[in-house]
Amino acid sequence: MNDLVLEPQIYILDTGGQYTHLIARKVRELGVYAEVVSSETEATRFSKAKGVIISGGPSSVYEKGSPYVDQAVLGQGVPMLGICYGQQLMAFQLDGQVRQGNKGEYGLAHLAIDGASPLFRDVANHQQVWMSHRDTVFAPPTGFSILAHTDTCAIAAIGNESTRQYGVQFHPEVVHTTEGRKILRNFVFAICGCTEDWQPASRIPVVEQQIRDVAGDRNIFFFVSGGVDSTVAYTLCLRALGEARVHGAYVDTGLMREDETEFVRGIFDSLGARHFRIELAQEDFLEALDGVVEPERKRKIIGEKFVEIQEGVLESGPYLDGHWILGQGTIYPDTIESGGTAKADLIKTHHNRVAGIQKLMAENRIVEPLASFYKDEVREIGRELGLPAAFLDRHPFPGPGLGIRCLGAERDEPIELLADGSWIAPVHSVGVQGDSRSYRPVLIVDHLDHARATEAINANQRVNRVIGIVGLNLPLERLSVIASSITPDRMDRLRRSDAIVRRLSLQAGFDAQVWQFPVVLIPIGGDGLPDSVVLRPIHSVDGMTAQSVVMPETLRNGMRDALLAVPGVAAVFYDLTHKPPGTIEWE
Ligand code: XMP
Repeated sequence: MNDLVLEPQIYILDTGGQYTHLIARKVRELGVYAEVVSSETEATRFSKAKGVIISGGPSSVYEKGSPYVDQAVLGQGVPMLGICYGQQLMAFQLDGQVRQGNKGEYGLAHLAIDGASPLFRDVANHQQVWMSHRDTVFAPPTGFSILAHTDTCAIAAIGNESTRQYGVQFHPEVVHTTEGRKILRNFVFAICGCTEDWQPASRIPVVEQQIRDVAGDRNIFFFVSGGVDSTVAYTLCLRALGEARVHGAYVDTGLMREDETEFVRGIFDSLGARHFRIELAQEDFLEALDGVVEPERKRKIIGEKFVEIQEGVLESGPYLDGHWILGQGTIYPDTIESGGTAKADLIKTHHNRVAGIQKLMAENRIVEPLASFYKDEVREIGRELGLPAAFLDRHPFPGPGLGIRCLGAERDEPIELLADGSWIAPVHSVGVQGDSRSYRPVLIVDHLDHARATEAINANQRVNRVIGIVGLNLPLERLSVIASSITPDRMDRLRRSDAIVRRLSLQAGFDAQVWQFPVVLIPIGGDGLPDSVVLRPIHSVDGMTAQSVVMPETLRNGMRDALLAVPGVAAVFYDLTHKPPGTIEWE
């Protein structure tokens, strides 16, 4: 039994930052098992750890109620790395000083290293780093020296070699910090003395044993989405318990992509899952969403409908008696932006954490075989299980489906022309800055220049997203925002547009060059054409940050022509916004 439990060598102390799990993931990529715990966890928990990392977070150390760490951790002799808020907190809880900077520092910065230290061994003296902060360390604690600075941040890294405590204001865990991996490697191996102990695929027998332990003599029922996570989780359960004890259903919510249901049927047939049914619930979902515009309400309704349909399915089968539990494909990051870690600001609620499912969890009737794995680790497991690469490499697709890509508007409203020739359209979308959520109108520009778009958004506080015009069926002056919500017609329009984009993107090999490619329907139209389509191809490593991608012109033109021919489409736009300040999805 004991080999089921792997003791983390590194603990990540979560202070509510968006990147908390990313830190753990990066440490695991180094082959070292790491886990995330609340920052306030008692020091005794770390007595066997090789090191702790305090995450970044949205708080300010001087605010009442902001996250702290057990004071004993600081004197425990365990090596420590504070990142962003983590550095500030470490400095503050020792005897250093922290204060609010004159202006925030968000995005890329240039780091200059000031002194030799094991943390920066073999790291270039000048490098690009990723910053996202307002407060800074103003005076380091006793025994600490200043290790690096940027133009706007005089104390960008501190360290105390004798206590092996270090802090960095920037984020070594994000891909934009070019030497970030090296810095984490230095901390984990040279400073903490960790050894490699982590290989996801080798955990398969352990996970199967865990499934058997949780299930006991109960069977497992699954709702699968056709995504990588739920399919890998299902496959693990099939292997652990055998096909007779693992049943599954797929709910067609009417918010699916074209031909998705047939695709899922094919996958499960090939897995030999004999007890698998498809539940048609399009009307249920569309009715419930009728008239709803606010993104979080949409998510809540979709999540609750899932639970309701699920309960209906459970009631119609043998599944309600105590012999059945619910299996889920939840992975670590599913919990991250929904406040699943202790203190993260709510940016978007993910559907599988709504009340109904939490109730089942409280009753201990849930098994989540992948809850401690990251996406790439799940793919690695999937490969080991023999699932086809074409399936494992599919772009991530959000649980609420096209429902969060079909935007509505409360009322008819004009588009406002600005003095510089750009327009503001009161179609609101979600954004993220620092660690907080924004919900603002969109700026429309008549070019597709990413650099200029980024400048425009920095200059205009009213918006959090910029789109460029790709093609118009009527002049922009005749377009306006049209009151609408999710309707079968609009869903068909979106599904059709999405299928066109996907087909052309796959044909051109562009699909493999982007991490995700949402196609979004927005209620901007005129002259009997009620909607516009937005192309949102992005690069990302993990969805936490993302860059809008430039598309080859011929492909873009092909998409433009095909989309402008879709009935009801007035215009085609290109989303030029990076994350931050926009999120990947519009809602
Ligand atoms: P955002 O839009 O927050 O997206 O930048 C980051 C990643 O998360 C996906 N996403 C979701 N996935 N349920 C999901 O299962 C959701 O409600 C949800 N919202 C966003 C998004 O597609 C992207 O990959």
